[in-house]
Amino acid sequence: MKAIEVDSLTKVYSNGTKAVDDISFSVEEGEIFGMLGPNGAGKTTTIKMITTLAKPTTGSIQVFGVDAVRNSEEVRKMFGLVPQAISVDGDLTGYENLLIFAKLFYVDRAERRARILDALEYFGLGDRADDLVKNYSGGMMRRLEIAQALVNRPKILFLDEPSIGLDPHSKNQVVQQVQELNREFGTTILVTTHDMHEADTLCNRLAIMNRGTIAVSGPPAELKRSVGGDVLTLKVTGEVVTDLPPGLGTIVESEPGVIKVLTDDGERAIPRITSHFQRKGAVVESISLSRPTLDDVFMKYTKSSIQKEEGTFSQTRSERRNIARHAR
Ligand SMILES: Nc1ncnc2c1ncn2[C@@H]1O[C@H](COP(=O)(O)OP(=O)(O)OP(=O)(O)O)[C@@H](O)[C@H]1O
Ligand SMILES: [Mg+2]
Repeated sequence: MKAIEVDSLTKVYSNGTKAVDDISFSVEEGEIFGMLGPNGAGKTTTIKMITTLAKPTTGSIQVFGVDAVRNSEEVRKMFGLVPQAISVDGDLTGYENLLIFAKLFYVDRAERRARILDALEYFGLGDRADDLVKNYSGGMMRRLEIAQALVNRPKILFLDEPSIGLDPHSKNQVVQQVQELNREFGTTILVTTHDMHEADTLCNRLAIMNRGTIAVSGPPAELKRSVGGDVLTLKVTGEVVTDLPPGLGTIVESEPGVIKVLTDDGERAIPRITSHFQRKGAVVESISLSRPTLDDVFMKYTKSSIQKEEGTFSQTRSERRNIARHAR
């Protein structure tokens, strides 16, 4: 049985925005499945529908074989959710925050204290249990939110942008703890992220989302292989060149002064590409060769770059900080 099975799922909000446009995918039990995509791709909306917080316009969702639309109550018992927005109360202690959830999820009174302390310990917050959450760092707060989502020992954990707004060290800590959780307890995990490195290290399989659709899905390594052998990045001045002789590779992005070429064998292609550019009156100032990244995968399948969304990403990040301040 699949942990999650989504079929032809579409969401049109009441203002007419089509946030999710006919997507289908499934998640195996015990898998870490990622949804990677720029702002507005439809990741949060997808999670909201699977976790019964938003009603699909059309399509079906099954969680361990249970229909999420018709049997939402039953589905709610199976998962934990860490939403994109802050879900802990800054004026309570770590312990108190988890206690509320334990009660909400009917954790047996006799078991509550041990479960909460266990969860706090697991996420490295044992010695801060009695501190007010407003005195936690951003990373500690995010780890507390994950601990909170786990008090009812769910079979599936949904993480919506778990590392957004965190510094690299806290990010790594979150990623490692999520991996450990998955290894140790076999918890199925569905995680959304903008962060290609995070998606690459954390996920067994990925769906790359763009404008409400899934552009491509598969294991990160397979997706990168599908791009081809090497990526050449050229800095060019002079004439603008937008084509290559047949068989040399394809230009995937050409912005002023920078050209990316996907090619099977970068080293062999370099001299031929340079002379082609020279013939056309362009000067190649530098060339670097790299292996394809998930951004190259995204570019290949959507003809745009995730990284171009950085502006809106930092917007989201500052939004998250504002909520954090609010929580204090
Ligand atoms: N409640 C709502 N009403 C109307 N439109 C909405 C609503 N929530 C989201 N949208 C729109 O739906 C689209 C998808 O949004 P969604 O939040 O699902 O994307 P996302 O991939 O999670 O983006 P982000 O990376 O910024 O979190 C966007 O165009 C967004 O503006
Ligand atoms: Mg989102």
